[in-house]
Amino acid sequence: MSLLDIVKYPDDFLLKPTKPVENIDGEFQQFINDMAETMYSASGIGLAAIQVGKSNSFIVYDIQQQDDVRNLQVLVNPRIIEMEGQIISESEGCLSVLDYRSDVKRAERVLVEGYDREGKPKRIEADGLLAILLQHEIDHLEGRLFIDRISLLKRELYKKRLQKKLKSS
Ligand code: NI
Repeated sequence: MSLLDIVKYPDDFLLKPTKPVENIDGEFQQFINDMAETMYSASGIGLAAIQVGKSNSFIVYDIQQQDDVRNLQVLVNPRIIEMEGQIISESEGCLSVLDYRSDVKRAERVLVEGYDREGKPKRIEADGLLAILLQHEIDHLEGRLFIDRISLLKRELYKKRLQKKLKSS
């Protein structure tokens, strides 16, 4: 197993919509394992393939990892079928967006369809943290970051701060 490099904003690669996965083979399984290790080692609860340099539609997540017991979930070619309600996702962050968190408006409940890592159809009805996580990761697959969902002013302030930091380092 090996850790993968996480692509960071403002890298344009993150803005590209991804392509569906067509082959679920051994190489794919290995990549999923590496992705999971990368997510756990960065203490993340979700990671989209595009964040580790692969422009295909799949994500890994584990919202229970505080419990010491791993419960890795894989979702391939996910689609949001239904969204309902609205909540504020408090202090949302992303492994690809350094040193920044913000409240983000999200749907309260979602219905998501996709496939598991063996290619079996999967249907998830989610609310709370899982609903927020799925929206965040599926956004990545469409080339969208959580900072695209905050006000222009906030985003510009963050960009300026980041540019300053990147220049001085
Ligand atoms: Ni993210």
